[in-house]
Parts: sequence; C-alpha cells; structure tokens
Amino acid sequence: MRKTVIAGNWKMNMTPAKTAEFIKALAPMVAGKDKCDIVLCVPAIDIPAAVEAAKGTNIKIGAENVHFKASGAYTGEISAEMLTEAGVEYVVIGHSERRQYFAETDQTVNLRTLAALNAGLKAIVCVGETLEQRELGYTETLLKFQTKMALTNVTAEQMKNVIIAYEPVWAIGTGVTATADQADEGNGYVRAAVAEMFGAEVAEATTVQYGGSMNDGNAAELLAKVNVDGGLIGGASLKTDKFTAIVDAANA
Ligand code: PGA
Repeated sequence: MRKTVIAGNWKMNMTPAKTAEFIKALAPMVAGKDKCDIVLCVPAIDIPAAVEAAKGTNIKIGAENVHFKASGAYTGEISAEMLTEAGVEYVVIGHSERRQYFAETDQTVNLRTLAALNAGLKAIVCVGETLEQRELGYTETLLKFQTKMALTNVTAEQMKNVIIAYEPVWAIGTGVTATADQADEGNGYVRAAVAEMFGAEVAEATTVQYGGSMNDGNAAELLAKVNVDGGLIGGASLKTDKFTAIVDAANA
C-alpha cells in the first residue's frame, strides 16, 4: 500500500509571521485527517516559524530546495543538514520553476535528491513536460527520462523516502489542469520508469503525486485515479479552506 501525500508548495509566498498564523488556523481544520500525509513546503526563511507552529499537529514541514554539497562556498544555498536540524522532513527537488529560472538540470536534480536522501529527508522530486514536448508526442519519453535521471544511484531502500510529483509544466499556475486521465497516464509513465529501474514491487509502493492547478474543485476526481497518490499544490495551498478541501478529498 502506498501513502497518499497532500503537499503544499508555497513557492515565494508568505512571511514568517503569516506562516505561523496560517498553520495555527489550518491545524484544527485538518486534525485527525490521517488517510493522507499532510505537508507544507515553505520558503527557507519561514521554516523555523512553520516547524514551531506545526508542533503537536499532523502537519509536516518541507523545504523547497536543498543543495547537493554538505557545506562550503555556495553563497545563498542551504544544506540537507541545515534542513534536518531545523526540523524539516520533506524537500521539493527539481520543480519546473527551478529548472526554468535557476538553471536546474537533470544532473543537479539527481545530486540534490541523493543529498536529501542521504541526510534522511523525504524527497519530492518533480518531473513534467512542457506543452511543446507534449504536442510533439514526447511526454512518455521525457517523463521516463527525467524520472530515471533523478533517481540514478538511489537505492531501492531509499525509494521508501522518494515521492515523485508529475507536474505538467503547462498546468502549473495556469488554471489549466490536466484531465484526470492525463494525470493518471503521466503518473503511470513515472511509475513505469520506477518499475524499470527498481522492479514492480518498489514501483507499486512509490507515491506519485499529481501537481498543476489542483484545487478544491478538481482534487476528488484527480485523486480517484489509480496512479494518483496525492497532490503537490501551489496556489490552492495558500488558502486554508481550499487546502483543507483537498485534504478532505484525500480522506473521503
Ligand atoms: P499550482 O502549482 O497548483 O499553482 O499550479 C503547483 C506546483 O507548482 O507545484
């Protein structure tokens, strides 16, 4: 049985004060809804406030990126050890915005994934095709390639701490959601790639999320699909009621 994981990705939103306020409001709304793991991935500066506010709740805290080196001359970067010591349990890696705006490559995604796993963090690894790649018919090839590149040198044992988020780039922040069938198909390609690398048993146990304009209105239909084991949610994770509705859909 694989775990359903509902994770918010706040991106560059919320201050530390707003973070504390948000989590205090959200905690009673999602209390006891334990058919899914509930995660908020927050900006680095918000992590201490988030960890403090989430204490004693069923909300887990994630970061939005991690560097691949343990320490050193990497101005502006944050190590896996810094995150774990701060109480972080999850980290988003290879989000398409990082690939697009911050020169993230399949190689750096792989290195960051290994660093996160070696430090005991749970990695939420993002893959996804652009509209152009989809229209050219490369969705399956691309998703399998990105998945395999990201997981190179990861062990089958470490796969227990890997979540993969299929996020079609054309659906992120656009209000255009993949249809439930498109999400199921994309997630299926990701799972097939995991099966090719690690075997069917590991693939069946791996949580594969869908992300891209998931919201309170479409979550139930998306989550009903056999290959959709949760969501990585941007915009709708910034509103307690919308995020709670998605958690509810995962608990139905
Ligand atoms: P969105 O973002 O829900 O705002 O489309 C999803 C994501 O980027 O993870």
